[in-house]
Amino acid sequence: MSSLLEALNKGILTSNAEETIAIGEALSKELPSDTSLALYGDLGVGKTTFVKGLAKGLNIAKNITSPTFNLFSIYKGDKQLIHLDAYRLSPEQSIETLMIEDFLCSPYLCVIEWPDNVPELLNENTLKLELSIQANSHQHFIQHI
Ligand SMILES: Nc1ncnc2c1ncn2[C@@H]1O[C@H](COP(=O)(O)OP(=O)(O)OP(=O)(O)O)[C@@H](O)[C@H]1O
Ligand SMILES: [Mg+2]
Repeated sequence: MSSLLEALNKGILTSNAEETIAIGEALSKELPSDTSLALYGDLGVGKTTFVKGLAKGLNIAKNITSPTFNLFSIYKGDKQLIHLDAYRLSPEQSIETLMIEDFLCSPYLCVIEWPDNVPELLNENTLKLELSIQANSHQHFIQHI
């Protein structure tokens, strides 16, 4: 296991967005193919910020923003990054119309915000990360769960 994944098992504290981006950037280069990513955590904990780092690591120049009109966006890079924000979905809704299952394997890297809303997209190859904000220090925390 890589030292980054080992560190994520314990959890990593970040003091600003740039540090979170740096972790995403490093992780994007270490993920085995066919792995997808589930980013858990409340509003504003840094999920999209983390995706910016993944994009940077995959040499995607476009600015990553949360998909607003679409549920997901596709970015071309060293891998094709699929960014799904499932905030407005509910677990009861069928995601058949999303047609996203094909993106769960190589050459795509699928990253999902609010993964609890799309349980059918999670499988044994999903790497689950939980993001949170430390109450006392306001640092952000990223942990492999
Ligand atoms: N250590 C940190 N890590 C990540 N973001 C940070 C950190 N410190 C401050 N921030 C700021 O917190 C905000 C996080 O917003 P972001 O959109 O990434 O959250 P989110 O989890 O995707 O929220 P949402 O659930 O609304 O999609 C950004 O404005 C970012 O600059
Ligand atoms: Mg977001």
